[in-house]
Amino acid sequence: MNKEISPALRDFLASLEQLFFIDQKELEEVIAGFHGEMRSGLAGKKSSLKMIPSFVKRPAGTEKGDFLAVDLGGTNIRVLAVRLDGNRHATLIAAHRFAIPTKLTGGTGARLFDFIAGCIGQFFAQHQIDRQHYHDLAFTFSFPVEQIAVASGRLISWTKGFSVTGVEGRDVAALLREALARNQMGFLNIVALTNDTVGTLAAQSYADPAGDIGVILGTGTNACYPEKGKNIKKLPGLDPAGEIIINIEWGNFNKLKTNIYDRLLDRASNNRQQQQLEKMVSGMYLGELARLIIVRMIKQRLLFTDKKVPEVFQKKYALTAEKMAQIAQGNPSRVGLGPQNASPADVLAIREICRIVTLRAGRLAGGLIAAVIRWMDNDLASSHTVAVDGSLFEKYPGFRDSVTATLQEILGARSSKIRLKTIKDGSGIGAAIVGAVASLNITRRQP
Ligand code: BGC
Repeated sequence: MNKEISPALRDFLASLEQLFFIDQKELEEVIAGFHGEMRSGLAGKKSSLKMIPSFVKRPAGTEKGDFLAVDLGGTNIRVLAVRLDGNRHATLIAAHRFAIPTKLTGGTGARLFDFIAGCIGQFFAQHQIDRQHYHDLAFTFSFPVEQIAVASGRLISWTKGFSVTGVEGRDVAALLREALARNQMGFLNIVALTNDTVGTLAAQSYADPAGDIGVILGTGTNACYPEKGKNIKKLPGLDPAGEIIINIEWGNFNKLKTNIYDRLLDRASNNRQQQQLEKMVSGMYLGELARLIIVRMIKQRLLFTDKKVPEVFQKKYALTAEKMAQIAQGNPSRVGLGPQNASPADVLAIREICRIVTLRAGRLAGGLIAAVIRWMDNDLASSHTVAVDGSLFEKYPGFRDSVTATLQEILGARSSKIRLKTIKDGSGIGAAIVGAVASLNITRRQP
């Protein structure tokens, strides 16, 4: 590291690196803990992993039809018109992204669902989409939902900073249906309610049967995989050899060693003691973790010693993963860290903090992908395609590399059997595919 860095700063960074580094042995322990939680979750026992049966299996590739898909993620709503040709090919006829206004993430359910309906209305108008042609709507809802059937499910709890009232415990497909009716779009029939991981996996395996894990590494994080009926002990009576895609909800995994910054972040969050893994891995939280470290260093007079603290470190969540990516790419002035307010040593140190925090995230993500692969195929007898969506994986410099390196570290030479495939718009396209996959015709008893 650069000689301009003072010994005190160098020492701090060296101990930070230690604090955040998860070595191979620790990763193996994480994997063992994860398998234990998977097992308990599938048996319906207490577990930080909800292991939610999605009520669908992977598509055959022959599904056909025209669908509208609406995808509520963490920061955007995407509306898509999708055509499935019945021969492993999905075409995006039109797509539109709408940013979710921050005030809606803390408002009432009716306002949020009216906004979603409004986006669909605008989509019809702006893309001259024939309303007569589209009847089937697939809904991707990227939050933990206890699925009741293929097209209905209750929100368990909000994640990713959402705190919309009147939705937890309710059937979100029914809430959308009501909003569509209020907004003169009652002609749309909701045929699927899907988690984004399940959509991503469905999109990949529609095109390529080797696809067997769906992973999101974006604002939030999660994964899904196909499980044999016989292993889903909490859902008796399934075809033992048949498969159901399980939404792991891995963001809530909590058998992890946390440090002082993780605990500070958790304490100030609106979902305390939940989503422990997500708070260490996903794009929503990485910037805040880095900011908390920087704030502490400023207090210890290690950074910005004779300068005003830049705005990006002053407010909670002001340092986003996008801004960290700019710093990592060597463009600190784009985020307000120019020569006038940051010394070269400040910039170097902040870049190092971003690297340390993101490296842990990439290693955890890689370790848990390895965990899911081992769960499905311990000897790696087959090849596996992991469909990955999310801006962190796609855009953050070096993130994909640390996931890949960790897979190699854990699985050795056999990791060559694993392909990580970035998939764009998979969650929306995949929801349309889920809409076309015949429902497994199982329903859960209403409590
Ligand atoms: C949600 C998951 C979702 C993930 C990625 C998490 O916060 O709980 O349902 O799949 O974010 O969007």
